[in-house]
Amino acid sequence: MINNNDILHAANLLKAGKLIALPTETVYGLAADACNPLAIQKIYKIKNRPITNPLIIHLSDISAIEDFAINVPKIAYQLAEQFWPGPLTLVLPKHPNVLDSVTGGQASVALRIPSHPYALALLEAFGGGVAAPSANRSGCLSPSRPEHVKASLGLDVDYILDGGPCQVGIESTILSLLNPEPIILREGHYSADVLAKALDLPHIKTISAVTNTPSIPGSSLKHYAPKTALYVLEPKEFLEALNQCISNGRSCCVLSFIASKQKYYDDFVSEWIALENEPETYARNLYAALHQLDHYNAECILVEAPPSTTEWSAINDRLKRASFL
Ligand code: TXA
Ligand code: MG
Repeated sequence: MINNNDILHAANLLKAGKLIALPTETVYGLAADACNPLAIQKIYKIKNRPITNPLIIHLSDISAIEDFAINVPKIAYQLAEQFWPGPLTLVLPKHPNVLDSVTGGQASVALRIPSHPYALALLEAFGGGVAAPSANRSGCLSPSRPEHVKASLGLDVDYILDGGPCQVGIESTILSLLNPEPIILREGHYSADVLAKALDLPHIKTISAVTNTPSIPGSSLKHYAPKTALYVLEPKEFLEALNQCISNGRSCCVLSFIASKQKYYDDFVSEWIALENEPETYARNLYAALHQLDHYNAECILVEAPPSTTEWSAINDRLKRASFL
């Protein structure tokens, strides 16, 4: 049940220019008043985030879109009506009042209404736009539980609004509506197929499928990575790689679909986590599993590759980023 005192406390901190950890259905955000330049500056400093990497502004109501964006196309409303509150971020032409520091100097702005009940209650109590990147240091794993925020940001965040584990577990799908043809800048819970169907389009392109220029916000490969080197292996190669690791005396952790049933592996693998072979459950637990495996400081984390079907596409995207050295 929502504790109204906690929500009011968090809203008052935002009004006072403080930073709080905001539970959303995707991951926890490091939240600040989107109209307070000093608070925005603190986000970049604490995250150690390049100032050119823009922040998503979170809203509580569709009617607020035009406070932050201009020339809003009809399809933005169509998508907002269908998918908000929820894990979809829309990139639109920026309203001149939006701080340049929030958009990293871009002429566009990213907006979303999150569906986590605490996030919605807080946004309503606060009454304005809330800028929030994921609540981790830049380049590190995103937090899907309050304890991940605490471990990563510690006292640098003024308050953690504890909303439990995030139910979606991976970041929102980012869709650019700057051009007549919508383009996905970051895959997420809503796949290209689902969005194309909603817009009655045959297909929606994904930027990483087009090009991988790190200068395009949202497309950087150096993201979402544990400290430990991570390798994603096709099921056929997985056991072979694991056996090789063991025979070379390398310490390792495992993320796979089946539990280790052999004592032999129990003796050599620091930790073996099996996640359910179902994309929504897998996404929900993915970052928690990677945080846990990362604690062992092993030489490597071996991940059994999920299927390469569209339902697994966003998860495969995050695993690819996590394995990028
Ligand atoms: O699910 C989420 O989106 C979470 C929760 C907290 O809402 N937020 C999140 O924020 O993942 P962050 O900052 O970790 O990732 C946002 C991505 C960045 O890669 C950024 O480059 C991109 O969104 N982005 C923000 N504004 C943009 C813009 N105007 N144009 C293109 N990409 C943008
Ligand atoms: Mg992030």
